[in-house]
Amino acid sequence: MFHDIPRAILKRMKQLEELDAQDRADGIPRLERLRQIPAETGKFIALLAASAPPGQYLEIGSSAGYSSLWLSLACRDLGRKLTTFEILAAKVELARQTFEMTGVGDVVSLIHGDALDHLLSYSNVSFCFLDAEKEIYKDCYELLIPKMVSGGILIADNALNFEKILRPMLNQALADQRVDALVVPIGQGVLLCRKR
Ligand SMILES: C[S@@+](CC[C@H](N)C(=O)[O-])C[C@H]1O[C@@H](n2cnc3c(N)ncnc32)[C@H](O)[C@@H]1O
Repeated sequence: MFHDIPRAILKRMKQLEELDAQDRADGIPRLERLRQIPAETGKFIALLAASAPPGQYLEIGSSAGYSSLWLSLACRDLGRKLTTFEILAAKVELARQTFEMTGVGDVVSLIHGDALDHLLSYSNVSFCFLDAEKEIYKDCYELLIPKMVSGGILIADNALNFEKILRPMLNQALADQRVDALVVPIGQGVLLCRKR
């Protein structure tokens, strides 16, 4: 999976990493920046996506499609498909360009809208990467867990750098009898849950 990443994907990943770093250096307001995961988190979620059972793969918070590209590697290997949600039109356009220039359109479907308006219509969810505004994590978690297959993987980013805001949701997941859960100190910290 990581040994034969297509050149077009590597090129776009590098562009997006540089754009994100430049936006941070220029002090662009937080909500306008890409706020991508670091590459090590990308590899981590791709490995977990490659280990998830068959079913529906979801991502909440596409931004410009950087994390979706990592997940697309697993989906391509397994013959599975990813649906990713993004609420902001400007970022939807960037993600659309990302998927077009990297040729992953057959693997990744991009939905423009609030993920919370869509999650109820999914079932058999076997993988979800949650990386949106922290205020919606709890609602997403509560909608998703009942819809996940046994062995399904839910990962939520920013478990450490937004620990204060996320503490109630993290405590809920860590105590939830429906999942086995752990906070992993990689990147900004991820909450990793496996449905029992
Ligand atoms: C941290 S960024 C995602 C970064 C991306 N996962 C990556 O690593 O490349 C969070 C994104 O979630 C989007 N977002 C926030 N709330 C959302 C919602 N309710 N539904 C869909 N997208 C949302 C934001 O517009 C933003 O682009």
